Amino acid sequence: MKILVVASEMEGLVKTGGLADVVRGLSAALKASGVDIRVVIPYYKQQIKQTPDVLLPNITVSLGANCHLGVAVRHTEVSGVPVYLIEHDRLYDRRGIYDDGYSAFEDNGLRYGLLSKAALTLCESLQWFPDVVHCNDWQTAILPYYLKRHFAGHAGFKKTRSLLTLHNGFFQGRIPNPDRITLGIAESDYIPSRFEDHHMVNLLKGGVAFADGINAVSPGYRDELLNPETSHGLWQAYQAREKDFVGILNGCDYGHWDPETDPLISKQFKKSALSGKKHCKKALQKAMGLPHKAGVPVCGIVSRLTDQKGFYYLIPTLERLLASQDMPFQVVILGDGDPVIANQLIGLQTLHPDRIRFHRGYSDALAHEIEAGSDFFLMPSLFEPCGLNQIYSLKYGTLPIVRSVGGLKNTVVGLADDHANQAIATGFSFNEANNYACQAAVEQAISLWYLQPDIYATLQQNAMSQDYSWAAPAKAYQALYRSLKIKNVT
Ligand code: ADP
Ligand code: GLC
Repeated sequence: MKILVVASEMEGLVKTGGLADVVRGLSAALKASGVDIRVVIPYYKQQIKQTPDVLLPNITVSLGANCHLGVAVRHTEVSGVPVYLIEHDRLYDRRGIYDDGYSAFEDNGLRYGLLSKAALTLCESLQWFPDVVHCNDWQTAILPYYLKRHFAGHAGFKKTRSLLTLHNGFFQGRIPNPDRITLGIAESDYIPSRFEDHHMVNLLKGGVAFADGINAVSPGYRDELLNPETSHGLWQAYQAREKDFVGILNGCDYGHWDPETDPLISKQFKKSALSGKKHCKKALQKAMGLPHKAGVPVCGIVSRLTDQKGFYYLIPTLERLLASQDMPFQVVILGDGDPVIANQLIGLQTLHPDRIRFHRGYSDALAHEIEAGSDFFLMPSLFEPCGLNQIYSLKYGTLPIVRSVGGLKNTVVGLADDHANQAIATGFSFNEANNYACQAAVEQAISLWYLQPDIYATLQQNAMSQDYSWAAPAKAYQALYRSLKIKNVT
C-alpha cells in the first residue's frame, strides 16, 4: 500500500500542536507495518532546524490559470519515514508558521494551496502514485479537489483516493472569493454544497465535499461535527457525508511519552514503583520557583493559549480557588499563544506567586516535566477533537481533570460523585462550559487527594494501565484506506 500524508506540520521537524504528533506517530506506525508511507510538509526555513538535501531543484506548480509557482523539493527522514519539504521562501520563510503572533497571514490560502498542489505535482515528477493521499485539516483540504478536477483523467492518479482527517474543524481556511481564481477553483464549484460559504470560499467545506472519505480524530468529535450546535457551522456539509464519516481516536507515541523510559524527566518511574514521581514533583516545583511541598497537590497545564482550551472559565475558577485557604494547591502552566490569555495568567501569578507559575513559551522538556511531576492535569477544553496531553497524563499517573467533550470524553472516565465507578475511573470530568462546573471538578479532585488518598491511588493505577498506543489506530486507518471508493462529484 502506498500512502502520501500531506500536512502543515510534523513532529521532529516543526510543531505547534497535536497535529504534528499525529503525523509523526501514525506515519511511523504505518511504516512499521510495511506501508510505503511518505510525508509532505512545507519547508519553513526559520522553524526547521536542519537543512535537508535538495531532491528536485525546481518544479513548476500550477494552481489557477495565471498562477504558476516554482518550488524546490528537499527530503529527509523522521522515524524512518521519508519526508518531502516544499521550499518556496516567499511563502514559507517567515517568523511564524500560520500567523505573525497576532493574526493569521492573509495569504494562507495561497500558502497551503501551493502545498496541496505541489504534493501532487511532486508525485508526478517522481512517477510515484499513491493509493491514498491522506490530507489533514483545512490547510490541505483543497487537495482532493485538485485530484478530482485538475488531475481528472490522469493515468497515474487513476486509482488514487483521498482521505481528509479533521483534527480541528474550527479553522476552515475562509478566503475572499477572488482568491478562488488564483487557487484554480472553478466557478461551477463555488456553490453552497461545495466551496461557497456566506460569500467566501471555505476550503475545509470544499474538502469535505470532494474527499473520497473523511474522518474525525475521535468518535466523540465526529458526533459533535454532525451536530449543528458543535459543528463550527458546517453541520450540513458533514451530514451530507454522514455515511462515510468515521471517528478514529488518535494514538500515543509511547516511544516519547512513557515515564519508564522518558529521558527528559528527572527520575523515571512506573506503575509498580512510583517513588520517581515524587522526585519529579519536587524537581518541577523547583524548576517553576514554587515552594517544595510534598503535602500540596500540583495541577499541571501544557497548552496552546487559545479559547478552544477553556481559559475563559478556567481563569475565574483558578482566581477563586487560589485565593482560598482551604485545601491549597499549586498550578504550573506552560503555554504560548493568545497574548490576552497570557496576560491574565501573568496577573494570577503576580497575585499568588507561591501558588501559580506560568512559563510562557514552547518547551518540550518542560512539557515532559509537567506531565511527570504533577498530580493532576487540567484540560477543561471548550472543544477538543481528540487531545493528546490527557492521554500522556494517564501514562504518567497524572490524573486528568477534563471537560467531557470530543476525544476527552472518549479517553477519560470521570470519577462518579458516589465513587461507585472507582474501579474504572481514570480522572475527573464536568459537562457544562462554565466556571461553576469547572470549579466543582477541580474541588472534587483536590479533596480526593487530601481526604481519600487510597482512592486517588486506585485511579492512578487505573490511569497508568491504559494503553493508547498507535497500533490500533494505525490498523483502523489501514482498513479505512482500503475501504475508500472514488467519489463522483459531478
Ligand atoms: P492541540 O493540538 O489542540 O494543541 P493536543 O493535546 O492534541 O492539543 O496536542 C498538543 C501537543 O502540543 C502536545 O504534544 C503538547 O505537549 C504540545 N504542546 C502544546 N503547547 C506546548 C508548549 N507550550 N510547549 C511544549 N509543548 C506544547
Ligand atoms: C488538533 C486538536 C487536538 C488533537 C490534535 C491532533 O490540534 O485540537 O484535539 O488532539 O489536533 O489530532
